[in-house]
Amino acid sequence: MTRGGPVIAVDGPAAAGKGTLARRLAEALDLPYLDTGLLYRAVGRLALDAGQDPAQPAERFAEALMPADMRRKDLRTPDVALAASKVAAQPAVRAALVETQHRFATERGAVLDGRDIGTAIFPDADVKLFITASSATRALRRFLQSGGDPTAADAQTRLREMEEALHARDEADASRESAPLRVADDAHVIETDTLDAQAVLAEALRVTRERLVAVRG
Ligand code: DC
Repeated sequence: MTRGGPVIAVDGPAAAGKGTLARRLAEALDLPYLDTGLLYRAVGRLALDAGQDPAQPAERFAEALMPADMRRKDLRTPDVALAASKVAAQPAVRAALVETQHRFATERGAVLDGRDIGTAIFPDADVKLFITASSATRALRRFLQSGGDPTAADAQTRLREMEEALHARDEADASRESAPLRVADDAHVIETDTLDAQAVLAEALRVTRERLVAVRG
């Protein structure tokens, strides 16, 4: 595949900090950035809007997906995340979204974050990063990001519910037959439990620069 710049794959489970890292990495390297989760979220949203169970065949929504569908403000809710995970398990939905992802990186290369970027979409990516953290850490981050108060009386209950929801979605994403979430053999894994966003970026930049020199000479 001829491309105008490097492809950097950032994969990992839900709420591991992939989005923050991938956006900052793209800025630092002056590359376009694509959050591929938004593709599946937008398809899940369209299925829900049509009154359809997202587990039912949804490729017609993926085939008709427009850029404006991905810019909607209502894609970050828990029900849309679940719907995204369900449509994402359908091979026909995944197939309909491959071309968009390839095209995105053609002109200048790109940083893409998702679940299968380094394993299925760009197995020849120049750099593959796998970002992960324990489900407790990821639930806490999600809780704080969504404005949760850790001192509130129901904080422990809400945290437990969030952790369960994240865990269930990870299980679904990792156990599906079509392009499941898994670490690519040649990926560099970054565990972020004890790292802040700045430290994750520094480590990702170090690995990326090292690999780009190795690949391009
Ligand atoms: O990254 P996210 O939480 O926005 O992704 C939402 C869902 O979309 C996720 O549970 C699985 C699916 N997804 C996928 O299967 N492949 C990708 N490359 C990105 C997301």
